[in-house]
Amino acid sequence: MIKVKYGIFSDIHSNLEAWCAVLDDMAGQQVTHPVCLGDIVGYNANPRECLRLVRELHCPVIKGNHDEMVATAHDTRNYNALAGEGIAFSRKHLLDDDKIWLARLPLSLRLGNFTVVHSSLDEPAKWNYISTELEAESSFIYQNTQLCFCGHTHVAKIFAQQAGSARELPKTARVELQRGARYLVNVGAVGQPRDRDWRASYVVYTPADALIEYRRVPYDLALTRKKILDAGLSEPLAMRLGMGA
Ligand SMILES: [Fe+2]
Repeated sequence: MIKVKYGIFSDIHSNLEAWCAVLDDMAGQQVTHPVCLGDIVGYNANPRECLRLVRELHCPVIKGNHDEMVATAHDTRNYNALAGEGIAFSRKHLLDDDKIWLARLPLSLRLGNFTVVHSSLDEPAKWNYISTELEAESSFIYQNTQLCFCGHTHVAKIFAQQAGSARELPKTARVELQRGARYLVNVGAVGQPRDRDWRASYVVYTPADALIEYRRVPYDLALTRKKILDAGLSEPLAMRLGMGA
């Protein structure tokens, strides 16, 4: 019998090389159920191609803040200059049909025994960041499943909650889930990691083994950088990728 394996990824951000490398790695890991946690577009040079590949998966997808910004005419004033530039670029290059599809995405979903959200469960539409144990506790209040997967910070990390308080677990590639504990798992970013590791990040979750595995996948960084510069996007967008920042 085929074992159910979820491949859970977030923040592709128009980085086609990173996204294709993750697709290949998921195939190698025998992922049966891909799940996308949003921010497919923004920042990098291939929004249309990345979105097409996500849509072709016909998998569950939730909305990220960049997806919302690109799909609407909302003012980017509250975004930093590089983020605003990426949003403008994606707006210009996506088809209307793609924007309508992005606009209709849900903010969170329950899938089997777990929940997915781009930012946090307490106020998903406010796009709060969960970086600290205190911030994780706010999200845990609204978490009705043992497991929740999120993205948004571009930093892979995992919080566990037992007896009311949340703590960040030490970074390991494999996490065996314990009964009686709840988990909030940030899967990191495919297309723009910010945890000082440039490789694409995602997670494989195997319910039958109660196991979460963090994957880091190298990709053709030089090509991604060249495309960013050739597209007329700012050099810092290209340089930050190599720093994992
Ligand atoms: Fe993002």
